[in-house]
Amino acid sequence: MKHNFYAGPAILPREVLDQASKAAHLVESEGLSVLEMSHRGSFISNVMDTAVQTAKDLLQVPDDYEVLFLTGGASSQFYMVPMNILGDNQTAAYIDTGVWSTKAIKEAKLFGHVDTVASSSDQNFNYLPTLGDIETKKYRYLHVTSNNTIYGTQYHTDLDLDVRQVIDMSSDIFSRTMDVSKYDIIYAGAQKNMGPAGTTLVIIKKSIVDQLDRPIPTMLNYATHIKKNSSFNTPPVFPIYVSMLTMQWVQKQGGVTAMQKINEDKAALLYDEIDRNPLFSGNVATDARSLMNVTFQISDQSLVESFLQKCDQHDIVGLKGHRSVGGFRASIYNAMPKSSIQVLVDVMQDFEKSHG
Ligand SMILES: Cc1ncc(COP(=O)(O)O)c(C=O)c1O
Repeated sequence: MKHNFYAGPAILPREVLDQASKAAHLVESEGLSVLEMSHRGSFISNVMDTAVQTAKDLLQVPDDYEVLFLTGGASSQFYMVPMNILGDNQTAAYIDTGVWSTKAIKEAKLFGHVDTVASSSDQNFNYLPTLGDIETKKYRYLHVTSNNTIYGTQYHTDLDLDVRQVIDMSSDIFSRTMDVSKYDIIYAGAQKNMGPAGTTLVIIKKSIVDQLDRPIPTMLNYATHIKKNSSFNTPPVFPIYVSMLTMQWVQKQGGVTAMQKINEDKAALLYDEIDRNPLFSGNVATDARSLMNVTFQISDQSLVESFLQKCDQHDIVGLKGHRSVGGFRASIYNAMPKSSIQVLVDVMQDFEKSHG
């Protein structure tokens, strides 16, 4: 097996892949593959319920929230959120921490007013902007991207402003403890820390739904999916099934509290090497360093390709940085074993010996 450092679709636990591939072949009790079953049948209904309950258990979701599994990726939440909760004459506050929040801002402007209340665009998003005193009363909600997959910055704690908060947790859901009650909407595309591409987790406070006069297409209305337990139409059964298995795997690791400790330990191994090794340097402000996407550079740009080749020789894949940042990005989501990070660290040390 290769050491999979891709940013997403990304590594899944080996155990989950084994369970999923078995079920794709045959679920013994049903005599059918999980891919062949009706979404109205008892097996899949149970999968849907279990997926919802496991997400609730992992994040201690309060009773006044619903957990949904939708389609259209996190990108569809960029417009579903404002379409459902931002009135034509209302204003939302957005923190701009890179490509994904920029896209969210663009979509929100289709439905109401947007103030970008903080941005780190002046330094290619390599830090988290400080939020000055904002007039929270003016805003319908504040939108923030928890982990900036491309740049490698991450909020490590919950924001706590006196305004409704909406958070994109596509690349760090279930990686750390959080207080769900601080947010009205939490959303995350599955394909980084939760499962395969094809479903999007949405955790939504029930009281925020159905508050606007605006007509909303049935499929884009959160109320539809709440009423029908995410099965108004045919849900993406297999991605939800694999997400359920991955959430159960997180439970077995000790839940998100244990996961966070493991992630801190894994990230420290790599950041320590980046800081120690004179060939490499980290991209982002130290206090903003992501535990999920570690971005770094090599001092001599002419060595980028040869370092990637060396990684390739050691079965390390997916390390090339995003085109807007360059250098390297090691995505080390929940499922990444520490042993794979150790392989990368060993390669960095070897490279130092031959090029330092
Ligand atoms: C933080 C963040 N938000 C949103 C997206 C978009 O997700 P999707 O491809 O599921 O639409 C991504 C994808 O990488 C992301 O990293």
